[in-house]
Amino acid sequence: MLQIAPSILSANFGRLAEDIQKVEAAADLLHLDIMDGRFVPNITIGPMVVEAVRKTTDLPLDVHMMIVEPDRYLSDFRNAGADMICVHWEACPHIERTVDQVHRLGALAGVAINPGTPVELLTDILPELDYVLVMSVNPGFGGQQFWPRAVEKLARVRALRGDRDRPLIEVDGGINRDTAPLVRKAGAEILVAGSFVFGADDPARQIEILKAE
Ligand code: DX5
Ligand code: ZN
Repeated sequence: MLQIAPSILSANFGRLAEDIQKVEAAADLLHLDIMDGRFVPNITIGPMVVEAVRKTTDLPLDVHMMIVEPDRYLSDFRNAGADMICVHWEACPHIERTVDQVHRLGALAGVAINPGTPVELLTDILPELDYVLVMSVNPGFGGQQFWPRAVEKLARVRALRGDRDRPLIEVDGGINRDTAPLVRKAGAEILVAGSFVFGADDPARQIEILKAE
């Protein structure tokens, strides 16, 4: 079943609770982008804000960690209320250990790959993952243009998974009414969308559009 995960990166941080309220009924997950100014050029939020968000919503929190040495902060984000924790393959020299740590903390574990990282590098870790996040932009900012080759990459993750139904396949970056049908057709099951959802007057309506296309 298709799930939509609005990214609060494009929400109004001065009125975050209000913006989250607008998507509460239509969304399946809430996507939170953690950036450290090192793994990516931008700096966003830490566990404190995740904890504050946790108190405003019942939606599962999908925490996307775009930071170096994510192992140091896994328990902080889990304690703050993360239900799903996704680390970047490029930031983890011992990815199996990191994934195991996320599981020990009781969260679902995902691994994200940048556009330049081949999906085949996930072959051996795949059976241990709850989800794979295929980046369809270079991470760091909302509102970037969709990278078209992500479509073919999603299909390769799907092929790698074979006839199993896990890990789930998530896509993040440049998702809108034009790109959603392409990624869905290629096998994406969780669509992250930031600017398309929160850039409009009626965010819930935008989610319905992604589900309908
Ligand atoms: C980008 C983030 C995304 C971002 C997506 O580095 O990981 O989650 O919020 O924003 P849009 O949907 O505007 O591309
Ligand atoms: Zn993200």
